[in-house]
Amino acid sequence: MIVAQITDMHVRRRGLMLHHMPHVKRPLRRALAAIADWSERPACIVATGDLTQSGTPEEYRTLREILRESEIPVFLVPGNHDRRDALRAGFRDHIYLHEFGPAIQYAIEFSHLRVIALDTSEGSRRGGFLDTQRLNWLSERLRERPQTPTILAMHHPPFPTGVRNFDGQEFEGRHALGAVVRDHPQIRRVICGHVHQPLVRSWCGTLGVTAPSTAPTLVLHPRAPGLAWEPGGFLLHRYENGDVSTKVVRTAAAPVSLIA
Ligand SMILES: [Fe+2]
Repeated sequence: MIVAQITDMHVRRRGLMLHHMPHVKRPLRRALAAIADWSERPACIVATGDLTQSGTPEEYRTLREILRESEIPVFLVPGNHDRRDALRAGFRDHIYLHEFGPAIQYAIEFSHLRVIALDTSEGSRRGGFLDTQRLNWLSERLRERPQTPTILAMHHPPFPTGVRNFDGQEFEGRHALGAVVRDHPQIRRVICGHVHQPLVRSWCGTLGVTAPSTAPTLVLHPRAPGLAWEPGGFLLHRYENGDVSTKVVRTAAAPVSLIA
């Protein structure tokens, strides 16, 4: 079975243009269409935060309209650009958003696999945040099915990514989360967004991955000073025989014409 991951859609009000991400709606629709057309249909889509640019009710209405086109269920995780109250109000029928509070945390249960979503957002803070309450909830969930392969989903990577400006942001609770992850070998992946580009690294006995944003993004160049375009896309996490493989799928090329 496959769990698809989309991230950093940054849906925003009409007319608002960001220089590092000029178009967002069409690339998101393209990603959803590619996921729906995949030869093995994903069981669900997990959206790991920065669902919207500013967290306004209008932006969540727009996001809702786009996601309505998906026949595959979409599970929403907040990022630092989101606002929990507006997210919950905009998606009242997504009852899992109320499983925990005030943070948005929940578990998606399948017979052979679990996805546990953590909320690493906190107000207007840019970096990650996990307090004792959120981590205790995670430990309780992990104790429920210790033999079941599990994917942890959250917006902020708790591991270093090598991307300077993001690694410079403080993630409060990172070490405490690492201790929990190390104690639970059923965790096969920690899947994140925030950096808008795909990266992989080992962390605390598991594998941490970040997904590309659905839209092409201008990012800090990985090797040289300056900026570079990363094409948009999504990840497919495929469970088979007790483990998970991850595929990067590109749906939208970088807008080359805008590089100059
Ligand atoms: Fe983002």
